[in-house]
Amino acid sequence: MINFEFYSPTRVFFGRDQHKRIGEIIKGYGFKKVLLHYGGGSIKKTGLYDEVVKALNDSGIDFVELGGAQPNPILGLVKKGIEICKKENVELVLAVGGGSAIDSAKVIAVGAAHDCDPWLFSSKKKVPERALPVGTILTLSATGSETSSSAVITNEELKLKRGFNSDFNRPLFSILNPELTFTVSPYQTACGIVDIMMHTAERYLTQKGEAEVTDRIAEAVLKSTIMAGRVALKNPRDYEARATLMWAGSLSHNGLTGLGRDYFMVSHQIEHEISGMFEEVAHGAGLAVVFPAWMKYAYKFNIPRFCQYAVRVWNCEMDYENPENTAIAGIEATIKYFKEIGMPTTLRELNIPEDSIEEMAEKCTDYGNRTLPGYIEYGKKEIIDILKLCL
Ligand code: NZQ
Ligand code: ZN
Repeated sequence: MINFEFYSPTRVFFGRDQHKRIGEIIKGYGFKKVLLHYGGGSIKKTGLYDEVVKALNDSGIDFVELGGAQPNPILGLVKKGIEICKKENVELVLAVGGGSAIDSAKVIAVGAAHDCDPWLFSSKKKVPERALPVGTILTLSATGSETSSSAVITNEELKLKRGFNSDFNRPLFSILNPELTFTVSPYQTACGIVDIMMHTAERYLTQKGEAEVTDRIAEAVLKSTIMAGRVALKNPRDYEARATLMWAGSLSHNGLTGLGRDYFMVSHQIEHEISGMFEEVAHGAGLAVVFPAWMKYAYKFNIPRFCQYAVRVWNCEMDYENPENTAIAGIEATIKYFKEIGMPTTLRELNIPEDSIEEMAEKCTDYGNRTLPGYIEYGKKEIIDILKLCL
């Protein structure tokens, strides 16, 4: 087990009706003025917006609001949110929605506490020194942003999607009511399943560190997500399945599933170039395309590790004579599952032309200024090779 530091300070309120306590919870922290931030309107359709507004009013919490955080949230709206926070002396940013509304809220919260272009944080040119606190009411199980230290934003002018990590991005509290995810479409549910799996598998299929406890936690997250995913897609109102996905999502990306191992999320970095350039692509769908390709490219660097994944996660039989067969069986099982839940597994299915591969690879290396660490250093050539396997 290699050395690690674990910090996951978000207070989680889990279960039915917990969102109705939002006013009381914020009051308990002593905040009086809130920015209510949400997405494109699903919370109005489901009635959640009215419930949140009522709870805030009942507790005497003053609020201003900003809707419109789009999937793959953009910098322009973040800047608007920062302006509102400064003008209205907002004390806490409350995100109600999926990862996009939450990430947008996180960057607003960091930006509102500084006097500079918020893109400096996303492009890692400046490290945040403070932030307004963020609270979340999660409506989609996927990104783990409700507990994670990262925030991902697209600069719509540069068509660049970038994430940055900071403890200031960790929400102060998150309300997780699985019932709020009953209305998520089958496609977005499947995207979420993939994202949860990838946050775990990308930390699992790495090189350095022996961490049996972490491995077993990761396998539990993966296996329960695979099973609950099937149930939730069959019956979207199955509370236990939705609850499993929701909690698995939070655990998959709060750091727990990577402790004691060395990891760098190569497929995530490559996927961000896809959904950065093609805003209609959902993050989970992009991952369902990139991850199998990365696996096919990378398994040879650590066949025993890929065999462990195949055997323990997918119940593949171990071929002791030729372990490579087992590693490949694990990759095939992953692809089969993605297809079963309705995810694309090729760039073609995402309508992404082959001639955009070069630009995505250039952006991923910051135009030659970085490589992605992992089993090998992934430069432009390696990223192109992986993207070609996505065709
Ligand atoms: O915008 P609204 O109208 O709310 O609709 C959303 C959106 O269209 C809808 N939706 C959400 N909850 C719903 C619902 N529809 C019906 N019922 C509900 N209860 O679902 C659509 C997708 O929402 P979005 O928030 O975009 O999805 P997701 O949670 O997957 O977030 C994706 C974003 O998070 C980033 C991704 O890159 C992407 O930009 N990520 C953030 C991470 C983090 N901060 O830790 C880690 C991830 O790896 C990821 O990169
Ligand atoms: Zn992700």
